[in-house]
Amino acid sequence: MASVTLDKVRKDYGAVRVLHAVDLEIADGEFVVLVGPSGCGKSTLLRMIAGLEEVSDGEIHIGERLVNDIAPKDRDIAMVFQSYALYPHMDVSKNMGFSLMLRKAGKPAIDARVDGAAKRLGLDALLQRLPRQLSGGQRQRVAMGRAIVRDPKVFLFDEPLSNLDAKLRVHMRAEIKALHQQLKTTSVYVTHDQTEAMTMADRIVVMHDGLVQQVGVPLDLYDRPVNMFVAGFIGSPGMNFLPAVVEKGAKPDAILADGQKLRLPDGLPLRDGDTITVGLRPEHIRLADNGALKGEVGVVEPLGLSTQFYARLAGQQVCVFAMGRASVKPGEAVRLSADPASLHLFDPASGGRIG
Ligand SMILES: Nc1ncnc2c1ncn2[C@@H]1O[C@H](COP(=O)(O)OP(=O)(O)OP(=O)(O)O)[C@@H](O)[C@H]1O
Ligand SMILES: [Mg+2]
Repeated sequence: MASVTLDKVRKDYGAVRVLHAVDLEIADGEFVVLVGPSGCGKSTLLRMIAGLEEVSDGEIHIGERLVNDIAPKDRDIAMVFQSYALYPHMDVSKNMGFSLMLRKAGKPAIDARVDGAAKRLGLDALLQRLPRQLSGGQRQRVAMGRAIVRDPKVFLFDEPLSNLDAKLRVHMRAEIKALHQQLKTTSVYVTHDQTEAMTMADRIVVMHDGLVQQVGVPLDLYDRPVNMFVAGFIGSPGMNFLPAVVEKGAKPDAILADGQKLRLPDGLPLRDGDTITVGLRPEHIRLADNGALKGEVGVVEPLGLSTQFYARLAGQQVCVFAMGRASVKPGEAVRLSADPASLHLFDPASGGRIG
């Protein structure tokens, strides 16, 4: 096992810079998830750690070793791709053992490693099958098995679950997490699914436009996003954003677009007349008979365990999340409230968090 350190790592494709000076320290044994929208540079970063892309500038270390100029096969990493990339003409057992064969390991050693990995992944009964005789989930497992038998210092995953149906994806992400708890191999996992990131990561790296926006443990990112991008990206349903102007009376208020007032937390660096964006998580908006805010219910989504509904508030649709069954009907006028301590305030010009 090994740590992975990125020091001002940059990637240019010709004149286009797709990664800007990325600094990142991944501890030995850590499970780090890179998350961000399509095109933000996640795969590029992962492929640079793997050695499949050249580094334009900066340094990558795996353990103590500078690997910028080390070939992929000599980096002691194993990568699992979205496409699985299995050899179609080899059965499961050969697919899994192939890399060891290339390393000229003996047959008994290969068989022992393949059998061990197959047991761990529930593939023992499928060892003689060809990839085309397997389901998507089973193929995914073979791709995982092929990585495990190599016993690498670092696992690199690039959206390994995105070809699976929703149910299998939930199942496999729990399995990958359980596997990491057993093996404790340093892992870097790329996804654009923030739920996957939240549930699997020791730490999440949120990326946008080739820049790292924030690095942290999942709930810290959820509770204290550094900017509107992270606030909007992490959490499902996402955070609501309402434009407002600060009114500093005895207690500070936010004046919303239609003149309604929302009490703000004390002690923030706000001036009278400041333009701000108020961020409100759906679960922090409550139905309350004496609530200060007036809204009108739009679409209602009863989910059984919880109810999610949209309300027109200050000229916008805001999402409200309530546990259990909420007795609201489309078109109904409702009163809503939000605890000042639960609000997130942002500077609309820079997108940065205030306070
Ligand atoms: N070989 C290349 N030449 C030029 N530009 C490239 C090349 N490969 C990737 N890019 C660009 O680099 C940027 C980052 O791509 P990358 O594949 O890392 O994104 P990603 O975050 O993995 O996205 P996705 O979620 O869609 O997989 C994109 O704008 C992409 O168009
Ligand atoms: Mg990608």
